[in-house]
Amino acid sequence: MLGPTLLRASRNERLRGVIERNPLTRKVVTRFVAGEDQDAVLAVVHRLHSRATTTLDFLGEDVSDLAGARRVRDQYVSLLYRLHEAGEAERSEVSVKLSAVGQSIPRDGHETALGHALQIAVAAAAVGCRMTLDMEDHTTVDSTLAIGDELRREFPLTGNVLQANLRRTAGDLAQLAGSGARIRLVKGAYREPESVAYQRKSEVDAAYRQGLHRLMASDCYPMVATHDPAMIRDANDAAQRHGKGLDGWEIQMLYGISAGLQAQLARSGHALRVYLPYGTDWYGYFMRRLAERPANVAFFLRALARG
Ligand code: FDA
Repeated sequence: MLGPTLLRASRNERLRGVIERNPLTRKVVTRFVAGEDQDAVLAVVHRLHSRATTTLDFLGEDVSDLAGARRVRDQYVSLLYRLHEAGEAERSEVSVKLSAVGQSIPRDGHETALGHALQIAVAAAAVGCRMTLDMEDHTTVDSTLAIGDELRREFPLTGNVLQANLRRTAGDLAQLAGSGARIRLVKGAYREPESVAYQRKSEVDAAYRQGLHRLMASDCYPMVATHDPAMIRDANDAAQRHGKGLDGWEIQMLYGISAGLQAQLARSGHALRVYLPYGTDWYGYFMRRLAERPANVAFFLRALARG
C-alpha cells in the first residue's frame, strides 16, 4: 500500500513544499540525483564514462507555461554544447520529459512540445549525442509516441520508452517492431488505473518478459531498463536466441540504484548506460524512487531521524 500512497504524494503540491523545505531531505536526495547544475552532472559523466555510457535528465515535469517550457529546452541545448566541449557528447544521451517542454500546456501542448523537442534534437545531432523521450503517465502516451515517430523522420536515433505495466504496450511494440527505433523498455513508474494498467507485480513482470522477447525479435535497438536481475538474465537469453550480440542492445539503470550490479555488468562486457537526473526540481522523481522500494522510505526516515 505504501507504493501507491507515495505515488499519489508525488503529485501533492502541499507535501512537495514540506519535503522540499526540509534541509535534511537534501542529504538523501543526493543518493538518487547526480547534482543540482550542469557542472555537477558533467563531473559525474566524466567519472562514469570510463565504464559506462550515460543519459542525462534535467529534472522537471508538468511545466504548464510557455516561458517555463522554453527554459527547459534552453537548458538541454546548453547542456548538449557543454557535453560537446567536454568531449563527452558521443557517449551521452539526453532523456527528455515532454511534459517539461510544453506537452502539459492546455492549448497546443502537443505542437509546443514537438517544436521544442525538434530544437533539442537538432542540437543533439549537431554534437553527435543521442536523445530519448521519457514516457510519463498513460494520458501522454499517444502524443509522446507520435512525437517520437515525427522526430525519427529526420533523426532516426531518437528513442521512445514503452512501459510494461500498460495494457496497450504489446500493441505499441508491434507497431514499432519494424521501425528500427531505439526502444527503452521499463516496468512503469506511474500510478495508473486498472482499466489501462496491470496492478499486480507478477502481471507487470510477465508483461516485461514478453516485451523483452518481442523487442529482441524486432528490428529495434533494445534498451533494457531495469535493476531486476531476473529480467536481465531473461534479456541475455532472449538476445542470444535472436542473435543479438553484446553490441546489439544495452542495459540501463538509474544513478544510485543497484551500484554493485552496475559494476558487475560493466565488467562482464555488457553495454551499460546510467540514467543521471540533475537539477533542483527533484521532488516527483525522488518520490517515485521511494515508491518503488519500501526500504528507501526506511532509509529516508532514518536519515531524517539522525539529523
Ligand atoms: P523492480 O521494481 O521489480 O525492482 C527490482 C530490484 O531493483 C529491486 O528488488 C531492488 O533491488 C532494485 N530497485 C528497483 N527500484 C529501486 C529503487 N527505487 N531504489 C532501490 N532499489 C531499487 N519509468 C517510466 O515510467 N518512464 C520512463 O521513462 C522511465 N525511464 C527509466 C529509465 C531507466 C534507465 C530506468 C532504469 C528506469 C526508468 N523508469 C521509467 C522506471 C521504471 O519504470 C521502474 O519504475 C524502475 O526501474 C523500477 O523497476 P525495476 O525494473 O528496477 O524492477
